Amino acid sequence: MKKLLAVYFSGTGNTAYAAEKFCSCLSASEISCKIYSIENFDKTAAQDFNADTVLIAYPIYGSDMPRIMKEFISENGEIFKDKDLITLVTQHSFSGDGGALAARLIANSKIHTASMHINLPSNISDSTKFIKIKNGGKINAVTAKADYKIAERAANIMRGKIVKDGTGFLSWFAGFFAQRLWFKYFIEKRLRKGLKIDSGICSRCGKCAECCPMKNIDIFDGNISANNNCTLCQAYHQERLASSSKNSLLDSVQYAPHQARR
Ligand SMILES: Cc1cc2nc3c(=O)[nH]c(=O)nc-3n(C[C@H](O)[C@H](O)[C@H](O)COP(=O)(O)O)c2cc1C
Ligand code: SF4
Repeated sequence: MKKLLAVYFSGTGNTAYAAEKFCSCLSASEISCKIYSIENFDKTAAQDFNADTVLIAYPIYGSDMPRIMKEFISENGEIFKDKDLITLVTQHSFSGDGGALAARLIANSKIHTASMHINLPSNISDSTKFIKIKNGGKINAVTAKADYKIAERAANIMRGKIVKDGTGFLSWFAGFFAQRLWFKYFIEKRLRKGLKIDSGICSRCGKCAECCPMKNIDIFDGNISANNNCTLCQAYHQERLASSSKNSLLDSVQYAPHQARR
């Protein structure tokens, strides 16, 4: 490997963190890396870079790839054609065959060189009461483990040692039957319907609409509406953390499970 083109989607920052960490490990070994989020992807510059290897990184939603990432891959398939492929997924704990999903979509990639399942503090804690939000020391411990695994996998790749998480039959079986099958048809639809905007609290600041990668929230003439296009990425949480305003649209957008927990 001489040149790596890295492309990621990240709702709440985990995948961006992991992809950047991985690229900085490779850069230290003098691999030339270009990294883009799919929202800031520059197709012409990516093509001109002429990488021999592509990294595709995404978070896991119900053992599946976010819809926005699937759409991106199908629109830009020709850029990944004939390149070696590395996949990186971030997850709370389990995805079964998460790392194999991109390899299946990019059918004409040359070699699936490696895949990594990286556990990081979870944003699904916001959507279910069963997974607790981790705090302080626990977050640091999970992140330190992730850092170690990313550095180890980068070193493996440099030594030509191939490790592929999630690519065997059992991983597919577990990913499909334990989660993907029912998540898509039962949970995702329910969570998407749960996206509610409380127009009483909303100050129409527009920050949520701006940061939604799916353009799912519209503010027009003082009216706010949510289209049925949410991928559950929770990107607005990042904005909410950065926002000093308590009385913004960000505080009035909630998921049904959130409300159930109160
Ligand atoms: C709707 C939804 C579904 C998720 N499903 C899974 C899952 O099946 N397995 C898992 O380990 N983590 C799951 N997670 C947790 C995320 O994959 C994890 O927090 C990821 O690192 C988030 O990445 P990001 O910050 O780049 O968006 C889910 C999160 C969301 C929001
Ligand atoms: S509405 Fe929120 S959770 Fe849904 S896609 Fe947009 S930013 Fe992500």
